[in-house]
Amino acid sequence: MMVQKQHFKPKSVLIMASGNGSNFEAIVKYFRAKGFQDKVKFELLCDKKGAPVLDRAKTLGIPAFCIEFEKFYDFLAARKGEYDLYVLAGFMRVLPEKILEISSNGVFCANSLANIINIHPSLLPEFKGKNAIARAFEAGAKETGVTVHFVQKEVDLGYIIARQPLKTEGLGLSALENEIHKIEHSIYPETIEKLLFKKNVLVFGGGAREHAIASVISSSPFLKRLYLANPNDGFKNLGETINFSDYLDLLQKSIEKRVDILVVGPENPLCEGIADVFEKGGIKVIGANKDWARLEGSKSFAKKFMQRNDIKTADYKLAFDEKSLECALEYFANSKTLAPPVIKADGLALGKGVFVPNDFSEAKKNAKEFLDGKFGAASEKILLEERLFGKEVSIISLWDGKTLVSFPPASDYKKLLEDDKGPNTGGMGAVAPSEITLKQKNEIEEYLKTLEAALVREKADFCGVIYSGLILTDDGPKVLEYNMRFGDPECQALLELLDVSRGVDLLDIFIKMTEKKLKKSDLKIADKKAYCLVLASDGYPSNPKKGAEIKNLDAAKEYGCKTYFAGVKTSQGSLTVSGGRVLSIVKSGEDTREFVYKTAESIKFDGKIYRKDIGKK
Ligand code: AMP
Ligand code: GLY
Repeated sequence: MMVQKQHFKPKSVLIMASGNGSNFEAIVKYFRAKGFQDKVKFELLCDKKGAPVLDRAKTLGIPAFCIEFEKFYDFLAARKGEYDLYVLAGFMRVLPEKILEISSNGVFCANSLANIINIHPSLLPEFKGKNAIARAFEAGAKETGVTVHFVQKEVDLGYIIARQPLKTEGLGLSALENEIHKIEHSIYPETIEKLLFKKNVLVFGGGAREHAIASVISSSPFLKRLYLANPNDGFKNLGETINFSDYLDLLQKSIEKRVDILVVGPENPLCEGIADVFEKGGIKVIGANKDWARLEGSKSFAKKFMQRNDIKTADYKLAFDEKSLECALEYFANSKTLAPPVIKADGLALGKGVFVPNDFSEAKKNAKEFLDGKFGAASEKILLEERLFGKEVSIISLWDGKTLVSFPPASDYKKLLEDDKGPNTGGMGAVAPSEITLKQKNEIEEYLKTLEAALVREKADFCGVIYSGLILTDDGPKVLEYNMRFGDPECQALLELLDVSRGVDLLDIFIKMTEKKLKKSDLKIADKKAYCLVLASDGYPSNPKKGAEIKNLDAAKEYGCKTYFAGVKTSQGSLTVSGGRVLSIVKSGEDTREFVYKTAESIKFDGKIYRKDIGKK
């Protein structure tokens, strides 16, 4: 399929500087080296006669204006709307509010209306103000660095867009200055490029997980437009919905809308090959291709992957008819543990294809039902798996084809009722990070190294998510399952942990993944706990009640919680229940659990059910 050529009007950037201009020169040279002469035009505005930056502009052939600072406002007002971005590069003045207003392009982005960015040679908020490098040095800071942020009224306090740390050990003051400048000269132009060429993103899926992903992306400074495929009525206002008949149709429409990145929430589209369709059409995808989606879509494929790569998992036998089933049961009857095996459909069964029996006769009865077509083609082949015991955790990792970067372990509450009673569900709540011992933490790290080595060895050529469902046994972690997507509800809790104050941005991470530039340090995690509580509708998981109106949603804001919608539909102007899991209530930080539960009590709908023990000690 042909990808349409995109025609851009050149971007226009005004750099304001008063001094030496080394950042100014680095920025101009970066774009020239990329061959962007026709794509990005620069102008310089300087308030200081004779400043070296003016000579640099002359040498580089950049139009420059040198006027008194008092006349800046008139200059900028006369050119309102001409610049795509304003960049301060060694500009020694505080900008008055009326200048901040004039720079706005009317888009409220990342909590900032001003479209002016600044670079500061420290890890803000530390060492704000002048002589930051020397002050960090004199204070004996072990780590300093560089921060790029939006400008606001208060000096050096705006929303952080990028941040790169630097260890100071062994560096004298002038070496430290050199290192800081080197970082500045790469991080500043790279950030400017991302702000000039923002991305159109399409989020696929209509659960609370996709609502959370779409919501976090929607406030990214690197987003141009957000598109949604199959959103529910609870979050479709976050972007423009693209209706489609099949994946090729969706691709065609995405090309017309100039979508840059597709983010896939659920597993079915991945197993059906949506990533392959989009990659062929020239659109980057966060989500595994059809081949690698088999790690989730076929349990036997996953088992073979683990065996080839020495990844510890439960022992298993395959069965596809009466004879192989008898053999498998006999194998487990003679095994060390004597425990009846867990029965699993080989293929995708909406998360329901696992049965944990209490005895061998239950195992046999259920295995037969599976083989007799309980889950259609998905259970034509089944696995009988050694029963394992221990704490379960979900590890969600990002993979760009070269590097694996993982979130801390999250705990999913899979059973419907308190104390892990009742039927399995999609998940009734989540807490992240999970409470684990140091030994378990180290063992998980070892496991993740093995997984990364396996993906490297097997040249896993996709860009997406790998979710390891681990059980922490006395023998170390063993894999229960792989999913090739974020967990729901784990995702809602984990996204809370991205450390926004240190410039961590989910879309930025996705962009780096599509460029195969993911680094371990990109996923900085805030030191706090996040909770997600699911409100479901009575009768879930088998036969949830539908139609009730959901009331008092504003309570969430009152308690500082977020709500992410799943089974909801607008009906006669109100939001109503349309599925089993209705919504997720999410919060992180101090007093979180209490506020999550206060919100759960306050939101009302007929048939509301939820577990009272999510995150209870
Ligand atoms: P899955 O769909 O593979 O996540 O399985 C659903 C749940 O069944 C898991 O979260 C476990 O609680 C349980 N389970 C699956 N496999 C095993 C096993 N081998 N041993 C013990 N419990 C298991
Ligand atoms: N929370 C489990 C899953 O997403 O599969």
